[in-house]
Amino acid sequence: MKIILVGFMACGKSLIGRQLSKKIGVPFYDTDEIIEKKLGKTVNEIFIAFGENHFREIEKQCIENLKLPENFVLSVGGGLPCFNNLIYELNNLGSTIFLKVDLEEIYQRLLSSKNNRPLLINLDDKDIRSYLQELYAQRLNIYSNAQFTLDVTHMNVNQTIEHLLNNVNLLPQKDQ
Ligand code: S3P
Repeated sequence: MKIILVGFMACGKSLIGRQLSKKIGVPFYDTDEIIEKKLGKTVNEIFIAFGENHFREIEKQCIENLKLPENFVLSVGGGLPCFNNLIYELNNLGSTIFLKVDLEEIYQRLLSSKNNRPLLINLDDKDIRSYLQELYAQRLNIYSNAQFTLDVTHMNVNQTIEHLLNNVNLLPQKDQ
């Protein structure tokens, strides 16, 4: 069972991924966490110290160097699939699932967590909406290359997990 969750910031990838992995009893990986551990810095600090381009390079290396077991759930940073054609790499690693959340809902969630978001931290509140609108539209094009899309705008974490588990064609068989 190889499940890879992609989607915009604040769509719930890490939370859903972690809980899904617990429920099905497979290891969970999160690229932001792996990178933070490796560098001993938060993603915010990495952006400040080295800039976004360098962070994208680190994300690429993270995916290239990942030693994944036979069964896993992997959640990747919101921007990761959108650089260096990594969405296609991810498609080769397992079943990619785009967790889609409407822009308005994303906007509301991000307004309250702006300071943990290196892409937003320097923007005035009044500019955040238009910035997100543009980024969301660009990234939707990329995320739509995932193998599956699930609209989770109106689902809580448990409902999302139930939904994923009920669509068993997403989840490869036991002996995999
Ligand atoms: C980013 C998303 C973040 C993190 C970094 C950049 C992005 O991960 O990798 O702040 O470009 O969308 P989450 O999607 O887990 O918030």
